[in-house]
Amino acid sequence: MPQEIEKYSKPTRILHWVHLVAFCLLFLTGLVLFIPQLGILAQDSWTRVIHRIAAVVFIVAPLIYIPMNWKATKRGIKLAFSWGADDIGWLQAAPRYYFLGDEKSMPPQGHMNTGQKMWWFMVIVFGIIFVITGLVMWFAKGAAPAAVFQWMVFVHDIAFIVTGTMLFLHIYLGVFHPLMASAWDTMVRGKVSAEYAKAHHGKWYEEVTKGKEVKS
Ligand code: HEM
Ligand code: HEM
Repeated sequence: MPQEIEKYSKPTRILHWVHLVAFCLLFLTGLVLFIPQLGILAQDSWTRVIHRIAAVVFIVAPLIYIPMNWKATKRGIKLAFSWGADDIGWLQAAPRYYFLGDEKSMPPQGHMNTGQKMWWFMVIVFGIIFVITGLVMWFAKGAAPAAVFQWMVFVHDIAFIVTGTMLFLHIYLGVFHPLMASAWDTMVRGKVSAEYAKAHHGKWYEEVTKGKEVKS
């Protein structure tokens, strides 16, 4: 049995941290644009400039990552859109697991558990929504019909509220929840102990130990 197993490769971890910084800047500068009372902080439009610089980083980082890590990208996208009975089981067992520490009814999970898959799914879907609506707001102001522009702002705002809220849950589960103590290590060093992999990601552990796994 291996002592440790690689969960996220170095390029995947770099993409995560770059996206994290870009997203946090987009979120904070977006907040200033969103709440009129914070307008005082936006003097000289520096928030607009930072929002646009962070948006470029947010868009370019995956464009560099994807062609260089095509296999992992394909596997990741497939994972986000593959849902089965174990996911329903996870959703039913999750409240007892996260609030009471009851592991018995937790079905075995793959490389990402259902909750992580849900976040990953949102990152893909809302990431695309942010980019499309943001680019229209950036480059088609005046050119697009006013109603279309208003819709873009509205959808951008909804994406901001949904992902902003879920980000707090992502941070809580990834950093602070006692049962997920090794999660942080996964994104820093890329590795988890074999014990943690077996307990938290049983199906993935089986794939790795049988040599069927593709690295992500
Ligand atoms: C990734 C591509 C993105 C692009 C190209 C983009 C672009 C833009 C642009 C051009 C504006 C209008 C700014 C202005 O008034 O001058 C804007 C507003 C805004 N953005 Fe983004 N953005 C992106 C991602 C994000 C993300 C990830 C968030 C938050 C998590 C976010 C939150 C906001 C908010 C809250 C506003 C204010 C909208 C309003 O006026 O109600 N944006 N964005
Ligand atoms: C301060 C902010 C953040 C922290 C502390 C954080 C931390 C983490 C950690 C520890 C993991 C590993 C969890 C595991 O595999 O057990 C992770 C995974 C992940 N993170 Fe983040 N992250 C942050 C922001 C973000 C942002 C902004 C995005 C998207 C733009 C993102 C996307 C992901 C994805 C897709 C995964 C894999 C699925 C998952 O484990 O949920 N993260 N993050």
